[in-house]
Amino acid sequence: MSATPGELGTPGPPVDAGDDAGLPTDPGDPGRWSAAAGSLFGDRLPLAVSYARKLSGDGVVRGLVGPREAPRIWERHLLNCAVLGELIPNEAYVVDIGTGAGLPGIVLAVARPDLRITLVEPLLRRTEFLAETVTELGLSEQVRVVRGRAEDVVDVPGIGLPADVVTSRAVASLDRLAGWCLPLAAVGGRVLALKGAAADEEVAAHADAVRALGGAAPSVRRCGVGVIDPPATVVVTVRERVVAGAERPARGSERRSAARRGGRPDERGGDRREGRRRGGRRS
Ligand SMILES: C[S@@+](CC[C@H](N)C(=O)[O-])C[C@H]1O[C@@H](n2cnc3c(N)ncnc32)[C@H](O)[C@@H]1O
Repeated sequence: MSATPGELGTPGPPVDAGDDAGLPTDPGDPGRWSAAAGSLFGDRLPLAVSYARKLSGDGVVRGLVGPREAPRIWERHLLNCAVLGELIPNEAYVVDIGTGAGLPGIVLAVARPDLRITLVEPLLRRTEFLAETVTELGLSEQVRVVRGRAEDVVDVPGIGLPADVVTSRAVASLDRLAGWCLPLAAVGGRVLALKGAAADEEVAAHADAVRALGGAAPSVRRCGVGVIDPPATVVVTVRERVVAGAERPARGSERRSAARRGGRPDERGGDRREGRRRGGRRS
């Protein structure tokens, strides 16, 4: 996880001091955010605590989480992601792209046991961490991990596509996200992008591109009002229609080699073997 502050919005107030340096002694302790954590995670709070410890310990040691994030793991990461659940219908199939160390995908799985979630992440080091975390938290029935790029998994069977909801945080600009995520969503489904303070500008800049890719006009919503401070900023785009040719945007390297061959881009998906091996509820 290497999300930048600009992408996540202004940090909330610091957690309660637990030692001389003003840091909490136990990263599993939500400190002043206990009430918010309790309301968002309910009886799964102990799982959220385990995940907070994993991110702040192993996640930092393995270079997936910046050391400066450890003391603010609750407000900047767990709670910021959990409030996204406000925009996700009951029992939805969710695909989280660019999950990194599990944000927001693992947090949503912990907070919302009714959801089925596929985590899509290209980097092996991160998918290994994710798979391990899913097992350790006992989420294997609810969460699957797929190694691949968002733009490569659209035709991979058995990974929960098309999804009711596609989520992302700190992965790409809105126009690129629309190109990757709209094809993964069912028509009528939602693409939810956790963004920072510049969300309104991004929407203004990329609304036309999103419409051209089959999305309705994107809107900006605040989640967690009265629960976290500041609330999370989310760009919501409903997939309105299928746009021919937008189903699997080719990567630059594929476009270049296709041009050299004088033909179409290679149509193979990402890690198809992994998708097939995993099987799944949807095809
Ligand atoms: C800044 S990190 C954010 C990670 C996590 N979502 C978070 O909020 O902490 C961006 C993540 O997107 C992943 N990523 C980059 N390009 C991607 C693509 N085309 N498809 C899926 N994931 C991608 C990276 O590997 C990385 O884990």
